[in-house]
Amino acid sequence: SKPNIGIIVGSNSQSSINMQLAKALTKLVSDQANFEIIDITKLPFYNRDEDDNTPKAFVDFKALIGSKDGILFVTPEHNRSVPALLKNALDGGSRPFKQGAWNGIPAGVIGTSPGGPATSMAQQHLRNILVFLDMPTMQQPEGFIQWKDGLVDANGNIGTASHDYLNTWMQKFLAWVEKHPRQKQ
Ligand code: FNR
Repeated sequence: SKPNIGIIVGSNSQSSINMQLAKALTKLVSDQANFEIIDITKLPFYNRDEDDNTPKAFVDFKALIGSKDGILFVTPEHNRSVPALLKNALDGGSRPFKQGAWNGIPAGVIGTSPGGPATSMAQQHLRNILVFLDMPTMQQPEGFIQWKDGLVDANGNIGTASHDYLNTWMQKFLAWVEKHPRQKQ
């Protein structure tokens, strides 16, 4: 059966280039996996004072994370690190202590920005977090994707220049998920 992949986009912009990339990536392998974009933009700001009474939004979010065979992070870079929006989702999903949702779920990390370094530093910071959350994360190939006209075409597909690279990237990500079946909590 097809793996169920959750996609987390680290942007709340209505015109997010990372959301455009995420949707186009799913189209490359839509016959091989079920994809669901998991909305993190409406999560409240995590507060440990609420650990005895976790807000429903985080309860539901954690249940959704826990139902996935793999998580694909598609994120912009903010000031050379992960956007606060994404960090909030990671933190809230990791608590209460020892009741986190992330542990053991295989992950992939990719993202785009117009700059040359193309979210590489945000991705390295994210990897540091995912090590602690015990998510086996694909190391190669890397996904430092510079945003240029035509990366995603008018129909929402990956353009010809990057098609082969990103198609291979997605094949390898799905193979990674298959090789690292998530540990049930
Ligand atoms: C940015 N941007 C940015 N780009 C980058 O490559 N490295 C960086 O460190 C930053 N820092 C940064 C901080 C903040 C607060 C903002 C708002 C933006 C630019 C960023 O790549 C650009 O806005 C992208 O369009 C963001 O991706 P989404 O939100 O369109 O998916």
